[in-house]
Amino acid sequence: MSLPFYYFSYLNCLLVKGHRYTITIFLTIKVFLLKHSVKTNLKQSFKHSLKLGNRLQKIEKMVATQRYGHIWDCCCDHGLLGCALLNRQASNIVSDIHFVDIVPELMAELEIKLQRFYSSSSNEVIIKNWKTHCLDVAKLPLDQYDGKHLVIIAGVGGDLMIKFIEAINKQHHNLAIDFLLCPVHHQFSLRSKLIELDFSLKDEVLVEENQRFYEVLLVSSSSAAEGKGNNKISPVGNKIWQSDSIKVSLSQAEIVDKYLNKTLNHYQRMQKGLQQSNKQDNQQTKTNNANVDVQHIIDAYRAVTLASLVS
Ligand SMILES: C[S@@+](CC[C@H](N)C(=O)[O-])C[C@H]1O[C@@H](n2cnc3c(N)ncnc32)[C@H](O)[C@@H]1O
Repeated sequence: MSLPFYYFSYLNCLLVKGHRYTITIFLTIKVFLLKHSVKTNLKQSFKHSLKLGNRLQKIEKMVATQRYGHIWDCCCDHGLLGCALLNRQASNIVSDIHFVDIVPELMAELEIKLQRFYSSSSNEVIIKNWKTHCLDVAKLPLDQYDGKHLVIIAGVGGDLMIKFIEAINKQHHNLAIDFLLCPVHHQFSLRSKLIELDFSLKDEVLVEENQRFYEVLLVSSSSAAEGKGNNKISPVGNKIWQSDSIKVSLSQAEIVDKYLNKTLNHYQRMQKGLQQSNKQDNQQTKTNNANVDVQHIIDAYRAVTLASLVS
């Protein structure tokens, strides 16, 4: 073969080789970009799925993370609230966030999401300061963790919350625990139980979301007598009805007004129903109904109208 042919073949080989390198580099970059964009998309869709509604936003705002060593997002479901608290802390980690739910599938799914989202966090601490627990809220292992605890329970009924709080309080009576509570119903019985347990009030707000109303209570297991000022819990609420907040915002005044009417209507209907069935039923039912008389609750809410709104 002639020399020019060798030169040609050699150059060709280099070109092909170079081309191969170019292709390899190109493919590597593409795979990297693809991986990165999949990761970014996953993170974005995870972040997007973490958008909080009015109710959870309000609850989240009431958490002063710097006060607590451990924050327990109980009955966490998809962990929206706990994630919002984690994200808020990203620049200044202070509390450990514990995600608690009784459904194993939910917790397994959440664990995977949290691993995926936070394991690549640039912040070393955020990688470590969360933990998932698949367990009954009544059995929180608070004594295994040093520091002040905040137990958040939202999205379940006040009746179930009473069971959780009684169990936690009994098991950890030596600890001063803060509870942030947002029951979906049975607010009166929950408040009555908190009073019976001699808890004290730190804050309370009323929030509306999708035409439903929610009371949010920040309370402490320490006695009201130990604190300063008016930190007693009222069975119907106090600050949530105050005219101060009405002056601040007209829509809040409407929310307060609607909520009071709705609550009164609810108990008045219940009272009518009880009276009807009392008339119709036999003596046994009468005895049972006597235990669930709600006139005192109606009276308490009527007093709210007289004390705060009308004045
Ligand atoms: C409606 S979700 C509330 C989600 C969220 N906290 C909120 O407020 O939107 C109720 C959750 O409570 C959980 N749950 C019910 N009983 C429980 C218990 N005994 N211990 C722990 N979680 C419980 C359910 O599995 C469910 O995920």
